[in-house]
Amino acid sequence: MPDHYAVIGNPVAHSKSPLIHAEFSRQTGQDMRYGTILAPMEGFFLAVADFWRHGGKGLNVTVPFKLEAFKIATRLTGRAEAAQAVNTLVLEGEAILGDNTDGAGLLQDITVNLGVALAGKRILLIGAGGAARGVIMPLLEREPCILAIANRTQEKAYDLQRQFAGSGNIVAIDYTDLHGEQFDLVINATSASLHGELPPLPTGIFAGESLAYDMMYGSGHTPFLQFAKMQGVARLADGVGMLVEQAAESFFLWRGIRPRTHGIIETLRSHA
Ligand code: ATR
Repeated sequence: MPDHYAVIGNPVAHSKSPLIHAEFSRQTGQDMRYGTILAPMEGFFLAVADFWRHGGKGLNVTVPFKLEAFKIATRLTGRAEAAQAVNTLVLEGEAILGDNTDGAGLLQDITVNLGVALAGKRILLIGAGGAARGVIMPLLEREPCILAIANRTQEKAYDLQRQFAGSGNIVAIDYTDLHGEQFDLVINATSASLHGELPPLPTGIFAGESLAYDMMYGSGHTPFLQFAKMQGVARLADGVGMLVEQAAESFFLWRGIRPRTHGIIETLRSHA
């Protein structure tokens, strides 16, 4: 019997993870299969227990269960602890390890695939939900000059500033105070693009040579990337690279092998 893995979420049918992991296992010759689990909104814990009972070895966790996965884990990695959310579970005997590979995925995409170094840079992170929280520590570890966080509900950005203050120069900023500020990297970690919306960003926030990065992806440019393009930003990236890189990091955790990611990123982009 091949080892069994899956992505669990609600909804989950749209997930590209099965395609990505099928490519990883084909490429590395790993004897495994990877499926999808649609868990009822109130049924995450039972669905996970059932998966382990039937021989499951590891799970990717997606919306809306990353906080519940954090609670189900009996052991957490440092990065999952910092993110307070888990996107990867590994069954280790009786223990369940919870990890969060989202931040590593984003950083791999930005610094390696896109070749953008972050030390000394000015970074603006838009959003203060789970997606934003998961990438703050890895971003601060690259020692940017400043990591500013703007969010619609301002209090949440101030909470994150307080929580991560000891780890680097992190500053909550209101959207209205962004006038006149410029950044080398602007990351959209809100879910606004999912609804075809754009956070209330002023014009002029992009420095020359800046990178606009949307963690979301879809067919064509997201509203945020369209906005950046209209501002003359040449370097635009959607979340496909991050998606594949976080999957590669999970795969490494499960199988101890790092798959190549370039080909599948290109494939997914060309099918978007
Ligand atoms: P996720 O886990 O994907 O981060 P979330 O925790 O629901 O999901 O957070 C969504 C984020 O997108 C939040 O920062 C939210 O702002 P609020 O905290 O004010 O709700 C942000 N967001 C969603 N739609 C938005 C919009 N149209 N404009 C600006 N921000 C938006």
